[in-house]
Amino acid sequence: MPDPSSSGERKASDDRKVTTLRLTEMKRAGERIACLTAYDFLTARLIDQSGIDVVLVGDSAAMVFAGNDTTVPMTMDEMIYHTRVVTRGVRRALAIADMPFGSYHTGADDALRNAIRLMKEGRAEAVKLEGGVGIAAIVRRIVDAGIPVCGHIGLQPQSINAYGTYKTRGTEGSEAERIVDDARALADAGAFAIVVEKVPQALAARITAAVATPTIGIGAGSGCDGQILVTPDMLGMNTQFHPRFVRRYARLAETMGQAFASYRADVRSGSFPAANESY
Ligand code: KIV
Repeated sequence: MPDPSSSGERKASDDRKVTTLRLTEMKRAGERIACLTAYDFLTARLIDQSGIDVVLVGDSAAMVFAGNDTTVPMTMDEMIYHTRVVTRGVRRALAIADMPFGSYHTGADDALRNAIRLMKEGRAEAVKLEGGVGIAAIVRRIVDAGIPVCGHIGLQPQSINAYGTYKTRGTEGSEAERIVDDARALADAGAFAIVVEKVPQALAARITAAVATPTIGIGAGSGCDGQILVTPDMLGMNTQFHPRFVRRYARLAETMGQAFASYRADVRSGSFPAANESY
């Protein structure tokens, strides 16, 4: 009987632990990789139990969890806290933690020290950094220490103050070529996966074909090896934010709003708690 762990084949109920090697096998086998973000224990556990392959503790927590306008304010201590609570809920999926803005920009020593903190204190299984050619040496240093690194190219939200806009990146030839170079530099530096954010789908497909490293798209079309969405966005929790690349799989803002209003009405009317909800 063939060994399923080496065949690249995937059973319908595949409860094998997802590793970085498994993601490479999935790319080779043409199996799409499903990824979501999480910031808290209960959501992480539900995502993990639903068979999602990768749980990213994204620094998008700065926005969708903490209410900031950008991801820039996120600190290492906050990332470690979110990572620790998420990893308590994750068994099967690969748990990746974002390195926040400033935690890897001051040199390879600082970057490695902070990556180690996310692994030891947060119990992450891998870290993610934004950038390409410019951070390749730092990626190599972290990889050489035995820490798997996921890259992040195209739109890099930590650079919003330099961009001044969240518009699609790589729509012009010169920037598109730079993004392809970024992907190659990350692959050469040993990254196990690369997030490709908000670029034209043809460019994302070209990058995916150019590197053996799995690509995970967000707003980058269907030509990537996998997809990721920010979980509160795909659950429809934020009615103010609905770019075209976010497919809403639920309307939680409505459901939660109705639940809160019903509870309020029940408390006001005295119908909650009932006798069978009391001691
Ligand atoms: O922080 C985050 O959630 C991310 C995803 C958008 C990929 O980096």
